[in-house]
Amino acid sequence: MSDYVEIFEVGPRDGLQNESRLIPTRDKIALVDLLSEAGFRRIEVASFVSPKWVPQMADSAAVLAGILRAPGVSYAALTPNMQGFDRAIEAGADEIAIFGSASEGFSQKNINCSISESLDRFKPVIEEAHAANVKVRGYVSCVTDCPYDGPTDPERVADVAGALFQMGCYEISLGDTIGKATPETTCAMLHAVIEAVPAEDLAGHFHDTGGHALQNIEAALGLGIRVFDAAVGGLGGCPYAPGAAGNVATEAVNALLLRLGYETGLDAEILDRAGAMARRLRS
Ligand code: HMG
Ligand code: MG
Repeated sequence: MSDYVEIFEVGPRDGLQNESRLIPTRDKIALVDLLSEAGFRRIEVASFVSPKWVPQMADSAAVLAGILRAPGVSYAALTPNMQGFDRAIEAGADEIAIFGSASEGFSQKNINCSISESLDRFKPVIEEAHAANVKVRGYVSCVTDCPYDGPTDPERVADVAGALFQMGCYEISLGDTIGKATPETTCAMLHAVIEAVPAEDLAGHFHDTGGHALQNIEAALGLGIRVFDAAVGGLGGCPYAPGAAGNVATEAVNALLLRLGYETGLDAEILDRAGAMARRLRS
């Protein structure tokens, strides 16, 4: 029997957040509804950040209210602080994600605080989420390279990933935010992180600026990683990471995994339709 590898679809959040044209809420809902038919277990659909910082995500509550909830699918939302957490719970997010950084420069630009301040901010969010029976995923950005600070020390990634895991995040997603990682830097980073967080509790989150995302995924598979974030149509980027191109395309990751003999449980035909829809939404 082949191994199952999960693709965590992040297109409606990480993909759309970077689009400068405000996309109508009904189009976001239609994209999520199509994705819900494709066989994902988790889809990130919303982001309860400051609407002044990321106007595209201001309608996140309306998106969560409008989508059809497929049974067994967890609809996830980003929450940077308690205010975001309260909004996410009120909107009915099934799980939330906090997002930190392995580099100080990106932490300041993205969430306006240091790494250590961000961990203090996340603590009550995780506690409240657990009290409400809501799972918390943790992101670490800039795991190999930072647009402000240059190359990232793998030990710093291990420190932040380990701290989020110890605080109660059920899975740590390791973000190559600017798509600069190579199989070599990916492996060096993972070797350090696996000392702090078991491979089965990690996910790879690769952007594809440098065109190495699929090779990085193959390298991560070799080290036991079995969850990968991706966005249909290769949508995406991060408004606070200059040069960050799209997330690796879900269709391409799915094809790679099938070719390598893994099962993903996804419907490739629906993925193609969702990819085409995502590309039409682009400015
Ligand atoms: P701040 O300005 O330091 O926050 O921003 P503050 O607490 O001083 O509040 C300032 C104002 O924002 C106040 O409003 C608050 O009410 C409001 P005012 O009194 O001025 O009218 N505010 C909020 N409003 C709505 N929802 C909230 C919220 N919080 C404060 N949750 C903050 C700090 C974190 C809010 C801000 O920096 C922010 O929103 N940053 C988010 C940036 C972002 O969304 N980046 C992209 C996502 S991360 C990413 O893409 C990487 C990832 O994909 C992984 C990878 O690729 O590496 C995850
Ligand atoms: Mg990202």
